[in-house]
Amino acid sequence: MIYLGSDHAGLELKKLIQKHLQEKGEKEVDLGAFKIEPPTDYPEIAHEVAEKVVENQGSKGILVCGTGIGMCMAANKHAGVRGANCESKGTVEMSRKHNDSNVLCLGGRVLDTKTALEMVDTFLDTKFETEERHVRRVQKIEKPK
Ligand code: RB5
Repeated sequence: MIYLGSDHAGLELKKLIQKHLQEKGEKEVDLGAFKIEPPTDYPEIAHEVAEKVVENQGSKGILVCGTGIGMCMAANKHAGVRGANCESKGTVEMSRKHNDSNVLCLGGRVLDTKTALEMVDTFLDTKFETEERHVRRVQKIEKPK
């Protein structure tokens, strides 16, 4: 399952991502926002999506705000969420391979649609590299000293 969320600034790109996922036959659910007006505070939606990703093992989240930054900051407050705020396919790929990212945070105001959809595909298609060093490092993310 893929949980989608956006604020007003990410709504348009989120809808395009949702359509793309539906065309690919992916199971998705949109947790809001559903309207541009009134504007939505991005942390509210980030927390909704993060809770679902933590509750449902193996699921993923895609969050879109103006830059992806605020969404990522809020989502990463949840234990078990590894949100990646990316602006290229390459960084999305590395976030999956080395960091086991489970929430992709995108900027609706900074990405063109083609790039964003390619990034979504990369996020879904790239596997975590399960070498011991990557597993060990990802575990350490959850344990600040
Ligand atoms: C909303 O104007 C904007 O601040 C928000 O979408 C996001 O970019 C925050 O990180």
